[in-house]
Amino acid sequence: MNLSQKTGLKRLSRCADGTLRLLSMKGTEMETTKLSQDHTDQHRFCDAARDALYHTIFSRRGVRGQFTPEPVDEAMLSRVLMAAHYAPSVGFMQPWSFTIVRAHETKQKVHALFNKAHAEAADMFEGEKRETYRNLKLEGILEAPINICVTCDKDRAGPVVIGRTHIPQMDLHSTVCAVQNLWLASRAEGLGLGWVSILDQDKLKETLGIPENVEPVAYLCLGHVSYFHDKPELQKAGWRKRLPLDELIHFEHFEQASDDPYATRLLQEMRSQQQHLENGG
Ligand SMILES: Cc1cc2nc3c(=O)[nH]c(=O)nc-3n(C[C@H](O)[C@H](O)[C@H](O)COP(=O)(O)O)c2cc1C
Repeated sequence: MNLSQKTGLKRLSRCADGTLRLLSMKGTEMETTKLSQDHTDQHRFCDAARDALYHTIFSRRGVRGQFTPEPVDEAMLSRVLMAAHYAPSVGFMQPWSFTIVRAHETKQKVHALFNKAHAEAADMFEGEKRETYRNLKLEGILEAPINICVTCDKDRAGPVVIGRTHIPQMDLHSTVCAVQNLWLASRAEGLGLGWVSILDQDKLKETLGIPENVEPVAYLCLGHVSYFHDKPELQKAGWRKRLPLDELIHFEHFEQASDDPYATRLLQEMRSQQQHLENGG
């Protein structure tokens, strides 16, 4: 019997995993009370915050047809644009700008560009797919109260940018990170967002007066919605299925399979998580 058992003393102990524990005797049993987070847990959000983040990610949708005319409050719009602006960017160059379109006449001009490109695109599909494509709604330009053109200024931080020295399109990738932040923040606000990419880039630049050295990356439709689809519309329409994530994972080498137990456990975990998600979990 040691001292703490004899005297009922309590003792603080730092465990190997970095947590602080209070050790005390309860009868003949040693009781341990965890005082701090696990070492690996210390930066993790609380369950509610983590659940909210994953809920945002898994319930985000590309929205085209469910916009309502309800205006988007300035504070809300400012928050989602702020979320976009706090995205990561190569060399912290923040190459993005946001052109906000609210005027019906401007939307009509962009819509006309869409109609033209959409007709051209239809001709690129064969047979049955062409008919299905024609019947898909692929934009909400006129219905959405706000349209936003997200652009990338390749000259924003001078000619040599940390991290862009060998892959020049890293500024475009950064701009897409901003779009994704905007998309997720919108979902959390209950706003629907749709990306319209079936547009002639040069004509879009001309319509919105975008300078020569600035590239449009995303044309977005944003607004309150009557509902969100639970699954991607293209999945519901039978256009494409969600791919199994475990088939897209490679270990060490793109072309080689792995029999490492860690890999096996990870893939198994993915299969069950994805099944849960696809079943509406
Ligand atoms: C780069 C990019 C371009 C897209 N362009 C269009 C588009 O022109 N029209 C459209 O309806 N959806 C467009 N989408 C939305 C996708 O169709 C949608 O994300 C996909 O079908 C998955 O559905 P979900 O976003 O609801 O999960 C685009 C998405 C991305 C990321």
